[in-house]
Amino acid sequence: MSTFHGSDLEKIEEIYGIPKEDIVSFAANVSPLGISDGFIDAMKDRLRCIEKYPERDYSELRRAISGYCGIRADDIIVGNGSSELIGAVIRHKKEPKTLIVAPAYSEYERDVRIAGGEVHYFDLRESEDFRLDAAELADRADESFDLMIICNPLNPTSGAVKARDMRMILDRCEELGVICMVDETYVDFADDVFDASCLTSEYKSLFVIRSMSKFFCAPGLRLGYALTSDRDIISGIDAVRDPWSVSSFAETAGAYMLNDGEYIDRVKEYIAGERQRVCDRLSGLRDKGIKYYAPEANFVLVRLPEHKISADRLFETAIRKRMMIRDCSSFRGLDESYVRFCFMKREDNDRLLDLIEETVS
Ligand SMILES: Cc1ncc(COP(=O)(O)O)c(C=O)c1O
Repeated sequence: MSTFHGSDLEKIEEIYGIPKEDIVSFAANVSPLGISDGFIDAMKDRLRCIEKYPERDYSELRRAISGYCGIRADDIIVGNGSSELIGAVIRHKKEPKTLIVAPAYSEYERDVRIAGGEVHYFDLRESEDFRLDAAELADRADESFDLMIICNPLNPTSGAVKARDMRMILDRCEELGVICMVDETYVDFADDVFDASCLTSEYKSLFVIRSMSKFFCAPGLRLGYALTSDRDIISGIDAVRDPWSVSSFAETAGAYMLNDGEYIDRVKEYIAGERQRVCDRLSGLRDKGIKYYAPEANFVLVRLPEHKISADRLFETAIRKRMMIRDCSSFRGLDESYVRFCFMKREDNDRLLDLIEETVS
C-alpha cells in the first residue's frame, strides 16, 4: 500500500522507520520556500493577538484578501482551511446531487457522501491528455444537479481550464441553477491560468475556493477563503458554522502574508523556473517511455512506462531514499502507472529526477 496522502508523514515514519524530518515531501504540494524571516519577525510583535477573540466578521482579513484578489470584501468568506469552505458549500444544499470533474481531489466525494448527496463523475480522458471539453461538460449537466465541482488548476493533472471554457460552463450553471464550485487552491502558482475570481460579480452560481496552505507554505495555519456574490450562500454558511473557526493567529498571519508582495513574487518566480526545468528534464526521458501532462500548478502528473516500473515500486524506491511522491493509483481514472510530485528545492528535484531516470533506463 503506497497511496498515502501528502500529509501522512507520521504513517511513513512508523512503517518505514524514517524520521519524518528527514523526508522530502513531494506529495503535499506545498511550496518549498517556507515562511519568510520578515513574517516570523512581524508575528513576534503580533503574538498577543491570541489574547483576544478574532473579529466576528473578520473584516480586516477580508480587506487584505480583497486587496490581494481585487474582489469586494462583502463577497469574501474565510474558513479554517479551504477544507472547511468546501464542506460548507456542499452541505449548503441538502443531499446535493453533484457532478465532479475527475480525476479529482478525494475529499469532494467524501464531503458529498457525508452530506447524504449523490456523486456523479465527468471523466477526463487520457487520450485527450486529461483536457476538459467544456461543451461536453455543459451538455452533461442538467437541472437535476445541485452542484458542479471543478478544480483549476486541477489536482492531480495540473492542467487548467481556459477563460472561454470557464464562461461556457458558468453560463450553463447559471441557466440550470447549479452552484459551480471552482477550487483554485493552486491558482497562485500558475502563470497564465485564468482565475475565476473576476467572474464572481457576473455569475451568482460561481463559488471560488482559495487556500493559504500551499502557496504560502502554511498548511498548519488552517486558513482558506471563498469568493461569491451569492448573499444567500454566504448567510446560509454563516448561519450554521461554529463562530471563530479561524483563529486570531491565522487572522493576523493571513493579513500579513497577503500583503507581502516581495515574498509572493519570489514564490511565483521560483516555481515557474522549477516547473520549466523539471519539464525539460522529463521531456528528455520521453524516449524511455515517460509521459507527463503539461503542468500549470506547482506539481506534475507523470505516466510511467508500464513494463518498466509501477507507481507503487517507484514510491517504495523513492521513500527509501527519503523522498515521498504520490502514487496516483487511487485516483478515479488513473492507475498504477501514474505518479504525481510537486516542485521542491532545486537539488531535491534533481535527486528525484535522477532516480526516475535510473529506474526507467
Ligand atoms: C485541490 C485541493 N483543494 C483543497 C485542499 C485542502 O486545502 P486546505 O489546507 O486549505 O484545507 C487540498 C489539499 O491538498 C487540495 O489539494
